[in-house]
Formats: sequence, structure tokens, C-alpha cells
Amino acid sequence: MGQPSEIQLSPNSGVASKSENKRGKSNAFRPISAAVLTEIRDIVSERYLHTDETSRRDCGHDETEDLLFLPEAVVEPASTTEISALMRVCYRERIAVTVRGGGSGLAGGALPVAGGLVISMKRFDKILHLDERNFQVTVEPGIITEHLQNTLKEKGLFYPPDPSSRGWSFIGGNVSTNAGGPRAVKYGVVKDHVLNLEVVLPNGEVIWTGANTLKNSTGYNLTQLLVGSEGTLGIVTKIVLKLQPHPTQTLLMLVPFRSAESACAAVAAIFQAGVTPSALEFMERNAIDWAVRYVGETPVPIREEDAAHLLIEVDGFHLEGLMADCETMTRVLEQHDCGEIFFADDDTTKTSLWKLRRNVAHAVKKNSIYKEEDTVVPRAELPRLLKKVKDVGAKYGFESVCYGHAGDGNLHVNILRGDLSEQAWNENVPQGIREIFRFVKSVGGTISGEHGIGLVQRPYLDIVFSKTELKLMRQIKRVFDPRGILNPGKVVA
Ligand code: LAC
Ligand code: ZN
Repeated sequence: MGQPSEIQLSPNSGVASKSENKRGKSNAFRPISAAVLTEIRDIVSERYLHTDETSRRDCGHDETEDLLFLPEAVVEPASTTEISALMRVCYRERIAVTVRGGGSGLAGGALPVAGGLVISMKRFDKILHLDERNFQVTVEPGIITEHLQNTLKEKGLFYPPDPSSRGWSFIGGNVSTNAGGPRAVKYGVVKDHVLNLEVVLPNGEVIWTGANTLKNSTGYNLTQLLVGSEGTLGIVTKIVLKLQPHPTQTLLMLVPFRSAESACAAVAAIFQAGVTPSALEFMERNAIDWAVRYVGETPVPIREEDAAHLLIEVDGFHLEGLMADCETMTRVLEQHDCGEIFFADDDTTKTSLWKLRRNVAHAVKKNSIYKEEDTVVPRAELPRLLKKVKDVGAKYGFESVCYGHAGDGNLHVNILRGDLSEQAWNENVPQGIREIFRFVKSVGGTISGEHGIGLVQRPYLDIVFSKTELKLMRQIKRVFDPRGILNPGKVVA
């Protein structure tokens, strides 16, 4: 991943400048004074408070475009008590606070646009309690997703959500964006696996949102409100996750198509034929080509005539059933004019196919700065969405690389900066994005399936929400965070 080299203010949001303007006014965020810094140091100790340029730069960007905003200080607390104490100080002083996980976000949710304090969760990296009797695990939010999954797998247990960034994203970051990943199509997204959360509120109070039960019909569902709230309502400090037995078998196939539209059309037909794959991923030609070049290897040659591929996995406990699913899917795929299907017949081949898919975002980033649009539509509308994206690109003069979780109707549209002028990038492209988003809304979809709104999708919220809906959300924000100090400039704040 390239490091952003210069400080950038978001071209779309105007948030940073607003926050800057606010400073110095009576209701503005306050800079961190020397006295406050001493208080913070007393809470976390000298070792875990950083004000040097390198630390501030490290926490000033995530994976979003080339955006960079420097915080004034970075702290690395290790307990709920420390976070609560930090928040009491920041609340009293009106200091902006941005919580940071692995930094893999694509919507700018972790960017400290108003400066202030960044709270890094990296020391919250423990599995606190594995309750095998109840198929539950309580974890701290700073544990790396894949590390948790591997540890559970050794015990035959399964926590399915698998964002492509799982090798470095934190589970807390996954909770904050309600992350998905390939397996969401069968197993659901993060919200479907979170039972209960410990949360520090902006004023330092600590709450639990729910209960450690599979069912809960008790009052408003604060757990689900917090999941996906992108660090704007509270700081998650403990997470209780639901587990299940780990599938023992997978079958994986890569299916080429001469036309990207046919590939998309095959997706809904697979479900209609009665098969629910554990992953059904789409990659258009550039996506797979660039990933092959980025990764430097491929188990299967990509042919000249292949315009797009579907990567399809089924999983379970009985091989015969999975083979029958593959036969059913093969019939459907052939009806949609697929090329020769490649079956991965060993673990090494499966791993290298997944490596290609999981590295598309990195590969695109290596080629060009890009705007990531995380469109999602009811899955049968996917062929129309892809066509719309390409038509709008032609109209506004931009190239896009499209790939994503086709089974969920979730298409990642990567709009390439290439050699577009400043004006084209900052004005024409957002107009084109609005057009795509209006289409998405018109077919029953929305503007982010799994990456969140963060900073960069805020300007488009009016496309999907009415004034009343947005007002309700802003009121919720105010109830949790009356001083607006937590992750300012994000989502609806
Ligand atoms: C993926 C990430 C970008 O699907 O969501 O690879
Ligand atoms: Zn994705």
C-alpha cells in the first residue's frame, strides 16, 4: 500500500474546513493543551502517548484514496477504564476523538478530519472468553479478524464474516462498518454475528448494549444500532460474537464468460436453481488481470476472450451434496454462455484463487488512485447496474474496474483517477457517481453495502434518505454524543 504523501482535504465533503473554522469559537473543538496532554499521559503512561510526526501520519490515513489528516496526538490505551477516563477528559474539553482499528477502511471512516486525538485500539487484541458450550466468544476489538478466525478454526469453530482485509483489519473496525466479505452471501454480515457489545459513551460512561443470547426482544436494539455506526456513537471495547461449527468441505470454481453481462445474469439464476453458494464473486477483466499482475501468479490462464469471471464456492460437511450443487450450477452457468469451468482441486489452488480475488483492491490501488463506490442492489438487478456504471463512465469520461460480491448484488465500482484533470476528478466524477447512486436507489438498492459512509460518501446521503430520515439519524447522534466529539465529520454528523 502506498503511503499518501501530502495532506489532502476531502474535495467532496468540506468537513475538514468546517471543523477548522469551528476551532476557536465557543462551541468549537479545542486543541489539546499541554495540561490536557499531561492528563492523557497520566491515564495511558508516557509510552502509549505519541505526538511525533510519524505516529500522527500513520494514523492520519486509511485506505481511502490519498486522503491524509493529521491528528494532534495518538494514544494506545489497553482497557475500558483507560478509554473511559480519556473520554471524560475529551468530553470536558471538547476535544475531537477518532477511534482507529487496522486502517483498512475505504470510506475514510477512520480519518481524523478535525485533528484532535486518535485512539488506536491495537492493544485491545485479546480473546477474553471462548464459551464453547454456548458457541460464543467474547473478544476485544483490536484483534485481527483472520487471527480470531484461525484460532477458532483450530477448535472446529466458525466466525464467518471475511472482508478481504481480514489479514489486517480489526474485528472492532469490522463491527464499526458492519463489514461483509465473500461469505456474507450465505452467512450474513457482521451484524448477524454480534450478540452484545460493551461500549464507552462519549462522556465516558460504560454500557452493555444487549445480552449474550441468540434471541432478544427486550427494548430497543442498541446492539444493532451500534454495529455499522462507524465510531460515531460510542467506542466498542468488548464484543460478544456468535459462533457455529466450522464447515469441513469446500469446492471452488472459476468460471469465465465472454460477456460481463452474462456473468452477472447467471448470478440470480444460480439461487433460483436452489443453490446458495458460500461465495459468489464477480471480477471483470481488468480486476482479474491486475490482480494476477499484482500477485505475480495464477493457477489458471486468463484467455483473451474472457470478459469477466465468477468465483464460486460452496461449503458444508458432506462432499456429495456439494458436488450435486456444483452440477446444478454448471447447468445454469452453461445456459448463460460460460466458457470452460476451472475447478480448484486442491487447497493450494483454492488459496491462490482466493489470493487473486482478495487482492483486487490492492492491485487497483497500485495502478491508480481511485474512488471506491460500494453499490448494492437486489441481486437480479446486477446486470443493469453494471451496464449503468459503464454507460455513466462513458458519459462522464471515466474508467472503472468493477468486481465484488455478486451473490449479494454488491458491486465494488472502482473509478480510476488515471490522468483525469483535477476538475474532472472533483466535479465530473461526483456527478457521474450521483447518477449511478440514483439508479441504485431506483431499483431498491443503496450506496454502501459493506464499506460504510465515513467521510467520502456523505455528500450522497440525500440520494438515499429523505430529510426526515436524516433528521432522525442526526437526533440519534445527538442523544449519544451531544457535544459531537466522537468521529466528527462522519456519516451524518
Ligand atoms: C473487497 C473489499 C474491497 O471485496 O471489500 O475486496
Ligand atoms: Zn468487498
